[in-house]
Amino acid sequence: MNKNIAVIRGDGIGPEIVAQALLVLNRVAELYGHSFHYTDVDMGGCAIDKWGNPLPEEMLQKCISSDSVLLGAVGGNKWNNFPSHMRPEKGLLRLRAGMGVYSNNRPAKIWPQLASASPLKASIVEKGIDFIIVRELIGGIYFGEHKTEEIDGQPTAIDILTYNEAEIERIGRIGFETAQKRNKQLCSVEKSNVLDSSRLWKSVMHRLATEYPDVTLTDMLVDNCAMQIVKNPSQFDVIVTENMFGDILSDEASMITGSIGMIPSSSLGSSSCGLYEPIHGSAPDIAGKDIANPIGTILSAAMMLRFSFDMPQEADCIENAVSKLLDAGYRTADIMPSDPSESQNCKQIGCSECGKFICDYLKKL
Ligand code: IPM
Ligand code: MG
Repeated sequence: MNKNIAVIRGDGIGPEIVAQALLVLNRVAELYGHSFHYTDVDMGGCAIDKWGNPLPEEMLQKCISSDSVLLGAVGGNKWNNFPSHMRPEKGLLRLRAGMGVYSNNRPAKIWPQLASASPLKASIVEKGIDFIIVRELIGGIYFGEHKTEEIDGQPTAIDILTYNEAEIERIGRIGFETAQKRNKQLCSVEKSNVLDSSRLWKSVMHRLATEYPDVTLTDMLVDNCAMQIVKNPSQFDVIVTENMFGDILSDEASMITGSIGMIPSSSLGSSSCGLYEPIHGSAPDIAGKDIANPIGTILSAAMMLRFSFDMPQEADCIENAVSKLLDAGYRTADIMPSDPSESQNCKQIGCSECGKFICDYLKKL
């Protein structure tokens, strides 16, 4: 198959980790007889520097007209004090909204080889951690009006959180459908004891539940959910939640699996053109040192093959290669055990070695 992939290397560690994911994609293409064509797209801080705009319109169009988009990470200290429309994150939000990718899927799954990297007690990890956060991605407070003005003689900041029924329903359906393909347990997370948007959220979820009788729907307040993720993560199968709650809970969920550097994500809307990105940031403190973990990006490329290109074997092939790398004891710095009794069985590797070794482990299934 021929596929056109828009590639956003971005800022910080973005270019390093994306380079490794492209090596892996090229090797998969060779093994399975595909051809992947890449178009570079500028977005984030590098686009501000080059074009004075975090996502110029023609860059967005390149993404929309591709078969899917692979993104590293954007942002960095250099642009922190820029006005809000000139921040790298603004480019990312415009990209998500412009592509219409309302459904962000973030798996929290522990790799057995990394069980000891979890900060949770072994007795909790042993019960299993394998759930998905379905995060609404193009609505809510991220996309409401933001302004700071003088009210009652002092600067006052206003951020508006809006959800309409249709926006809740479309992400709710993704939650139910995701649960149907797994263990049929859906937990809807909100703050309905305080927020109107959450009360509407909850009522829509319960209306939808009647259409998915095979799925068990539960409700959980977001503060309780934050607690339950560390206390008893094995209770979760699929969590569906709004944009900002999903942002926060997915960082928490990633950490209990060992490292945020391992977690991929997919974002889809009504077409098969998706946006695939690791959930971590641009980590400017380690950029250019060849020590970042590229696995989150490599697994995001695997998700692209699975969900947008209908290539499940090719996706399995990448996931197997990552598993073999971990079996062999190779670890980037973020997942290197600190306990000497364990680290003696592991070997610390850099970002490019990690990509190269994963390529070597790729075998046609
Ligand atoms: C994420 C990131 C982004 C978000 C930032 C960079 C705008 O934290 O993808 O989780 O908040 O969505
Ligand atoms: Mg985040």
